[in-house]
Amino acid sequence: MKQLQKARKAIDRADTRMAGLFCRRMKTVETIAAYKRENGLPVLDPAREQAMLSGSVTRVPADLSSEYRSFLRHTLSVSRSHQNRMADAATHPDSFLPVFTDNGYYPIFLERGLLGRADAFLSLSRRVLIVTDDGVPDDYVKVFASLCAAPTVVTLPHGESSKSVENWMALSRTMLEHSFTRADCVVALGGGMVGDLAGFAASTFMRGIDFYNIPTTLLAQVDSSIGGKTAVDFGGIKNPVGSFYPPKAVLIDPDLLDTLSPKLFSEGMAEVIKMAVTFDRAFFERLEALILSDRVKDDLPEIIRSALLIKKEVVEQDEHEAHLRRALNFGHTVGHAVEAGTDLLHGECVALGMLVFSAPAVRARLVPLYEKLGLPRTVSLAAAAFAEALPHDKKAGKDKITVIVCDGIGSFAMKDLSPMEILKKAASTFAGKESV
Ligand SMILES: NC(=O)c1ccc[n+]([C@@H]2O[C@H](COP(=O)([O-])OP(=O)(O)OC[C@H]3O[C@@H](n4cnc5c(N)ncnc54)[C@H](O)[C@@H]3O)[C@@H](O)[C@H]2O)c1
Repeated sequence: MKQLQKARKAIDRADTRMAGLFCRRMKTVETIAAYKRENGLPVLDPAREQAMLSGSVTRVPADLSSEYRSFLRHTLSVSRSHQNRMADAATHPDSFLPVFTDNGYYPIFLERGLLGRADAFLSLSRRVLIVTDDGVPDDYVKVFASLCAAPTVVTLPHGESSKSVENWMALSRTMLEHSFTRADCVVALGGGMVGDLAGFAASTFMRGIDFYNIPTTLLAQVDSSIGGKTAVDFGGIKNPVGSFYPPKAVLIDPDLLDTLSPKLFSEGMAEVIKMAVTFDRAFFERLEALILSDRVKDDLPEIIRSALLIKKEVVEQDEHEAHLRRALNFGHTVGHAVEAGTDLLHGECVALGMLVFSAPAVRARLVPLYEKLGLPRTVSLAAAAFAEALPHDKKAGKDKITVIVCDGIGSFAMKDLSPMEILKKAASTFAGKESV
């Protein structure tokens, strides 16, 4: 035990020294990035990288050369991401938000009116598969297609049933028929359904081609468009087939939400509230004031930005949902079970789920917000169907499900409960027996 502690201290000291060297390296990278920008040189210089990798092995003993090469390759990739980030920040300083993943970096551009200027942010001088659905206003598709050199538009029927393996095949076939290559790209122009499906098609075509996401619902703008999860529904189950495939860029234009129905807008607001109430007390209080005074739409870009900052922080720390990212499932355990047995929208069900696992003082703050936004505060439960629809989380133990609870604004905790305990809590909350 003592030996382990001693070794860990030595690792910590080595990491501290490496952190200092890392900062020095990144500062130098910034100088190189500025030089390349001024001289119109590309960020990637394959010959230089190859020379560095080949020469690297002489620095370490032979038995560590493979590990060192892998380490250096990752360092080069991080340096490239840093150069790209510096370039994006210099070109679009007002609308830019960087997201780092295990495999690199992508920018989110957020500004009113971006759709009409998308070609200044995305590389569209190539074949572009635009995936959308028939609920997305046609004007948006026309505006975007007019900015692409060679657009192919696929318009699917709206609704979750389009997020299917059949449509993944249809998109792949369309790309083959239009001679798409690895140099071409896929663009999602729609809500989370379109984003998940188009992202999955991009991740598998030719083993992965560039994917841009232009989310057009509030839920997609604050939640599904970042984090890199793509999926299709299969075998009657939501999202069992999919991939982690970060987009090349996300373009968020809050003006696109003007055409959203109030119900869909409120559904997205439920997700925003979820992030604020579990992660950021100050944001929650700002949001609360805006909702209660009917000023949400005036401050929409700022609200979206604050929600994105939370999601960015979470996915940067835990891209693959090992721990922290599970907090984003607040409200979802009960939400999914309610969703299975009602016609309510996903976000409405999440809103109900949040009430069940909020402390009374938190619930008392949520209820007036739901009233303003027209979100449901209660639902009648068919107990057997509800219990059946609860997810069974094997990690938490045979009979337990891990739920996220919110005991105070801006915080969360994880708790393992049995399905019966969840059912009882939900039933008493929706019957108004849990104090508000
Ligand atoms: N990948 C992720 O991390 C993630 C996270 C959350 C949800 N999701 C997925 O997202 C999907 C739900 O997303 P959603 O709520 O955006 O639903 P959606 O994509 O089905 O869109 C809802 C409706 O809004 C319409 N619409 C879209 N943009 C519009 C606009 N600007 N004006 C008017 N109507 C418009 C659509 O036509 C559709 O009828 C689900 O499939 C869910 O699994 C994914």
